[in-house]
Amino acid sequence: MNLFNVYERFDITPVKAEGCYVYGSNGEKYLDLYGGHGVISVGHNHPVYTKAISDQMSTISFYSNSVIIPIQSTFAEKLSKVSGYPDYNLFLCNSGAEANENALKLASFHTKKSKVIAFKNSFHGRTSAALNVTDNNKISAPINKQGIETIFVEINDIDELKKAFDTEGVCAAIIEGIQGVGGLDEPSEQFLGELRSLCDEYQVVLILDEIQSGYFRSGKFFAHHFSGIKADIISMAKGMGNGFPIGGILIHPDIEASYGLLGTTFGGNYLACAAGCAVLDILNEENSVENVNYLEMWLREELTSIAQIKKVKGKGLMLGIEFDFPIKELRTKLLFDSKIFTGASMNPNLLRILPPLTVKQEELIVFIQALKQHLS
Ligand SMILES: Cc1ncc(COP(=O)(O)O)c(C=O)c1O
Repeated sequence: MNLFNVYERFDITPVKAEGCYVYGSNGEKYLDLYGGHGVISVGHNHPVYTKAISDQMSTISFYSNSVIIPIQSTFAEKLSKVSGYPDYNLFLCNSGAEANENALKLASFHTKKSKVIAFKNSFHGRTSAALNVTDNNKISAPINKQGIETIFVEINDIDELKKAFDTEGVCAAIIEGIQGVGGLDEPSEQFLGELRSLCDEYQVVLILDEIQSGYFRSGKFFAHHFSGIKADIISMAKGMGNGFPIGGILIHPDIEASYGLLGTTFGGNYLACAAGCAVLDILNEENSVENVNYLEMWLREELTSIAQIKKVKGKGLMLGIEFDFPIKELRTKLLFDSKIFTGASMNPNLLRILPPLTVKQEELIVFIQALKQHLS
């Protein structure tokens, strides 16, 4: 049987990974500054993380959500201490798209409306509702296009935003804390404040997609914490499980739960929660947020001293390095000549880095040196 061929793949076969490094089948060692699309938050195979999962595996790995699973509450408790949303409720699922799917569905249940305001260049996932609010026609099949009516607004255009709210029947507005796939654009503090007020005025549920920008990646637990506003629903995934599939939404206490409203077979399983708890423990014990903030400051200084770099976008360790030429060749050289993984985005001139939050300065020095070498 062949694999359904939907991925353009590098000819690299990772067989082992540790910290910031991935090892190929021919013994090559790669510096991972991309973390498999921003997933690796505490480093590959962190010993505390692997122990937590294997300890859990040796007791119980799975039962469905028809029984009491105390590690879900342990995880919620840990999350309540760092998320800035201690009074919100947690629903657990398995991926980012699923988190947004449930967030949108809940907003629709709550308001009994169905239209959505989303933003140009957004990416929220490939399932039905999540795809409808994603600004990319190429990945939308005819079956998806009959779905939700979505009004796409230019990020930071307040006039256009106000006009969108004149539409009847809007249940939700969904926005990324910092755009990932779209190319690291982000809503300004003023724009988020305006969005919050309009959502209040029109009784629209504000969903903050922190799937990529959450979990301290931006230098705060959620990127929207820079603005001081609160969302009604926050979606999370990626860094949450450091590679173990887990997603979730934090839900405003005014949005009421009822039996059967949402559901999942695998969401909140023991292993995912063990992974999730370990990630939060490690981030806390290693004070990763300090590392992120220090390294962002240092990296910005280093990067802005390189003449070919036009702009450094993003926050924390979610950075986009913009050139005035396409980065495809540079990225290939970084990977195959310097053995450094980096990422791309919808903006062809933008090199994206999403390293583990535990990355060390000496590892980033290697990156800067390689970048300078390939640009000279
Ligand atoms: C902001 C954002 N939302 C949603 C998703 C979808 O997540 P998943 O691939 O886990 O379904 C992604 C994935 O890249 C993302 O970056």
